[in-house]
Amino acid sequence: MAQEFLEMPDKDGFFGEFGGQMIPPELKAVMDDIANAYEEVRNSREFQDELSDLYTHYVGRPSPIFYAKRLTERQGGARIFLKREDLNHTGAHKINHCLGQALLAKHMGKTKVIAETGAGQHGVAMATACALVGIPCEIHMGEIDIAKEHPNVTKMKILGCNLIAVTRGTKTLKDAVDSAFEEYLKDPKNFLYAIGSVVGPHPFPKMVRDFQSIVGKEAREQFLQRENKLPDVVTACVGGGSNAIGIFTEFLPDESVKLVGIEPAGKGLDTPDHAATLSLGTKGTLHGFKCYNLQDEKGNPLPVYSIASGLDYPGVGPQHCYLKDIGRVQYEAITDEECLDAFLVLSRIEGIIPALESSHAVAYAMKVAKELGPDKTILVNLSGRGDKDADFIANYLGIN
Ligand SMILES: Cc1ncc(COP(=O)(O)O)c(C=O)c1O
Repeated sequence: MAQEFLEMPDKDGFFGEFGGQMIPPELKAVMDDIANAYEEVRNSREFQDELSDLYTHYVGRPSPIFYAKRLTERQGGARIFLKREDLNHTGAHKINHCLGQALLAKHMGKTKVIAETGAGQHGVAMATACALVGIPCEIHMGEIDIAKEHPNVTKMKILGCNLIAVTRGTKTLKDAVDSAFEEYLKDPKNFLYAIGSVVGPHPFPKMVRDFQSIVGKEAREQFLQRENKLPDVVTACVGGGSNAIGIFTEFLPDESVKLVGIEPAGKGLDTPDHAATLSLGTKGTLHGFKCYNLQDEKGNPLPVYSIASGLDYPGVGPQHCYLKDIGRVQYEAITDEECLDAFLVLSRIEGIIPALESSHAVAYAMKVAKELGPDKTILVNLSGRGDKDADFIANYLGIN
């Protein structure tokens, strides 16, 4: 099984039946160009050394694993550990793939990087990477997310990127993707659309997965070193799926390790206000690839919702769809209410303010710790910090 995962996707970008390049024929050559350039840098010692140096000296990798002792005692069961991606420069895992894509843009001689953002973490990380590499950057963001994630909006402006407010449709992530893609289509030869997760047409799901796999490589080694065994459960939140695939990939061949992806159940799976794509979606095409989708009978994406802007997406990475179907990863959903509870508990009991996205995974660990029992361990990918959410939470809870 291990070999099978390492060789994925196939040459056309498929993980089983999911992924591929569902794009207009005129874009095929451009995507193939990106795929070829990526294979070149993937095998280039110079490129990999440059990226690895930036991971160490710019991002601050390796991110530590922290034993959440007080949270464990509170829940009374399995020991809970946190992989601290929140401590990375710019505050989340997104910087791992943004640096990779910015270096690729430089390698390909691109003149502008375009990206979408939901919570603003990918936008800040991309604007940061572009400032570092010296390439103009344009970020598309829904108006609702702009209001909600104000600290990240300010940061993107300070970093010198051109921020485009998206006022159409849902005014959230899905429409930000559409808007960014339209801009990209104006000059795909000279622009790079730096996708913010393991989604989009081939080679993006593969490329972003590879850049994020550093998280699982470090985590597996760190956990073994510290505990002399592998974790029993590894869990991460799933929006498009980049932080989850980042930590899962290295553990995929370890059959004793249960992998659990956490989707946003929003106001409840029995309401329309959720974004639980793998739990309730059907197969379809979105943004250039095949995946599970929350869609209507005509195949149009449904409006989705989560308290966490970064999880608010009607599709999901093709590798997650494949891993769900073969049963290697289990997908569960956590409500806004459970997420908020985890957000406050972790803040007040461990002094760590998690991103609302990451709080979904923390909530799952809190939920299952007791039934797992004290001889078991859970490793949570704490994908980002919650500074960006502080104002929103203060208003939401009426504590400002
Ligand atoms: C902190 C954090 N975690 C998770 C996500 C979800 O993205 P993905 O599923 O690609 O990791 C986001 C997206 O903005 C994020 O900001």
